Amino acid sequence: MSGPVVVAVDGPAASGKSTLARRLAQALGLAFLDTGLLYRAVGKRLLDAGADPADERAALEAVAALRPEEVEASRLAGERIGEAASKVAAIPAVREALLPWQRRFARTPPGAVLAGRDVGTVVCPDATVKLFVTASLEERARRRFEELRRRGETPMLRAVLDELRERDRRDTERAVAPLRAADDAFVLDTTALDADAAFAVARRRVEEALARCEKRGGPSGTYANP
Ligand code: C5P
Repeated sequence: MSGPVVVAVDGPAASGKSTLARRLAQALGLAFLDTGLLYRAVGKRLLDAGADPADERAALEAVAALRPEEVEASRLAGERIGEAASKVAAIPAVREALLPWQRRFARTPPGAVLAGRDVGTVVCPDATVKLFVTASLEERARRRFEELRRRGETPMLRAVLDELRERDRRDTERAVAPLRAADDAFVLDTTALDADAAFAVARRRVEEALARCEKRGGPSGTYANP
């Protein structure tokens, strides 16, 4: 197959898409980018500066000042930064400013798996394979609740569920690049699947799609989904 392979993995908060995408990248020998970290890093800069995450000018300044070493998962976890990220992510100029970075990453050989909200619809609409990973709100809240408990926190399930519902609302209702499955994405509902089972289904779909693409001699950029 000529050209870089791009696998787009989109889905709502706490759907398990990032973990799944990272495992896919490892299995396929591709680079991995969690695009949510870019928005989180911008959100954190604004919080640290005491600025409003919805302030367009401050947010654009934060994007311009962003250094690659700030885009590091361990520094950017937590609901407070996630919420700030979803506010900066609703600013069209911020999304525009972060596009070239994401596209450059995707196009670097041999290719990449990108996890996010709009990878298959906006960032890489010509991705080789697209997955949309989702689960019910209740199941996502349960997983996030368990994850917080494992980190030693004492969350309230109700509060976790309400925060996720609010983030879903902001991500799906924003005017630019709202969260939605691309028309040609394979939708993977993991409500009844554990992480290993979800990965097994995703891997099979991706490998089938890549094999179809290779058979056609198609360069990456050829839609490989049925
Ligand atoms: O995936 P994660 O929870 O780290 O993303 C944080 C926020 O960044 C999301 O709620 C969403 O608003 C935003 N985001 C986005 N587009 C992406 C990735 C994340 O709008 N591609």
